[in-house]
Amino acid sequence: MAQLWGGRFTKPTDELVNEFNASIRFDKRLLREDIEGSLAHAAMLGRQGILTSEETAQISEGLRGILLDAESGRLPITEEYEDIHSFVEANLILRIGDTGKKLHTGRSRNDQVALDMRMYIRRETAAVRAELDELLGTLLSIMRQNTETIMPGFTHLQKAQPTTLAHHMGAYFEMFRRDVTRLSDCRKRLNECPLGAGALAGTTYPLDRSYTAELLDFDRPTRNSMDSVSDRDYLIEFLNDLSLIMMHLSRFSEEIILWNSNEYQFVELDDAYSTGSSIMPQKKNPDIAELVRGKTGRVYGALMSLLTTMKGIPLAYDKDMQEDKEVAFDAIDTTLHCIHLFRGMLETITFRKDMMRRSAARGFTNATDAADYLVGKGIPFRDAHAVVGRLVLYCIGQNKSIEELSLEELQAIHPSFGPDLYDAIRLETCVSKRLTTGAPGPEAMQEEIRECEAFLSAEQSGNPAEPLAGDRK
Ligand code: ARG
Repeated sequence: MAQLWGGRFTKPTDELVNEFNASIRFDKRLLREDIEGSLAHAAMLGRQGILTSEETAQISEGLRGILLDAESGRLPITEEYEDIHSFVEANLILRIGDTGKKLHTGRSRNDQVALDMRMYIRRETAAVRAELDELLGTLLSIMRQNTETIMPGFTHLQKAQPTTLAHHMGAYFEMFRRDVTRLSDCRKRLNECPLGAGALAGTTYPLDRSYTAELLDFDRPTRNSMDSVSDRDYLIEFLNDLSLIMMHLSRFSEEIILWNSNEYQFVELDDAYSTGSSIMPQKKNPDIAELVRGKTGRVYGALMSLLTTMKGIPLAYDKDMQEDKEVAFDAIDTTLHCIHLFRGMLETITFRKDMMRRSAARGFTNATDAADYLVGKGIPFRDAHAVVGRLVLYCIGQNKSIEELSLEELQAIHPSFGPDLYDAIRLETCVSKRLTTGAPGPEAMQEEIRECEAFLSAEQSGNPAEPLAGDRK
């Protein structure tokens, strides 16, 4: 194996050790970041007079050539190298000779890998955010079309009060909106440049860390150099953000699975987003939603794995930290796929408005409104609650809904019930009167939709999401 070290060793590394130690199999994903970081490091060395301008130019040309060739497949990234950093440096020396040996001046693989990972995660933060923005767009269009689509709202999975599909989708809009702002918050903390921290204690060369930070689009260099090479907090935060996204997707999936069942029939999945059974010809299964729900475990696993890896590591860099990569890469791939597929499923789904309304009409979802009606007639709410409780009990015995009772039956239970009750407890009335901020009443909902539109158009125009209150400068 081609290694960057070996001078103080008297025999070659055991083959199994090489295999165990090497990370190229997975860190080859960091090629672009590694080269971008090296270009900035070389430019800074040149600017500081540590390299001549010819040497800097040669190194830079060599690095760009490696990136081009490796990305086009002309230069395969093979496992004869220990990691991506060794691959790049060895190939640079092959290309430009001894000048290539000067690139690593004032640098360690410890600050190098810390830099590569931060840059990679920064890029992926933007990728996840872009997928979330698409999903928010899909949610928003469903909301716009369904401010009057009545469905039952549930608590304890029992029908509770009528609401609308727009309102239900709006709840998910809020979850994914928070996810977007969390990613933007995470990016702020990760966007500091560790390059120049060296192995752990900086270096004796007059490096300009602010210059490399600026070249690589970081807000500033990291501070303490020991922390710089051993901090993976930003990655844990990012995995936490992904875990929350998956938790939200998983709850949503669970609802789609329920709604798609014979018992609910609130939705019909598109044939392109469902699968069949090998034995039961009638089946049309919600496999995408089930897989999203299932894969949530993998992403939580990545978060737990890294938290556990980090918990016992003494300062500064230790090789344990190499374990951050596979789990993080897998969690990123999984989350991106899940958001993407989930959105496709949601875009092609058919909402069965008739079934939703029918379901809302059973199960006494208007009982609160019947109590509110009595409050309007001057009865204290607690007493009204008890009256409607007796009313519901009577209805259950008669196998009727409240609005199916005659005025005589109603008045036998309480004399304050009048003929205007029937309109007061129509599902449409129940919903339209709920106009407090955040409630499903179509006018309140329009207000929310306008706010969601403003958020999304700021996102899509590249303006950062609303900062968290504590972060406002
Ligand atoms: N492959 C290593 C990692 O991912 C790179 C850093 C190696 N540094 C070292 N001192 N061995 O963490």
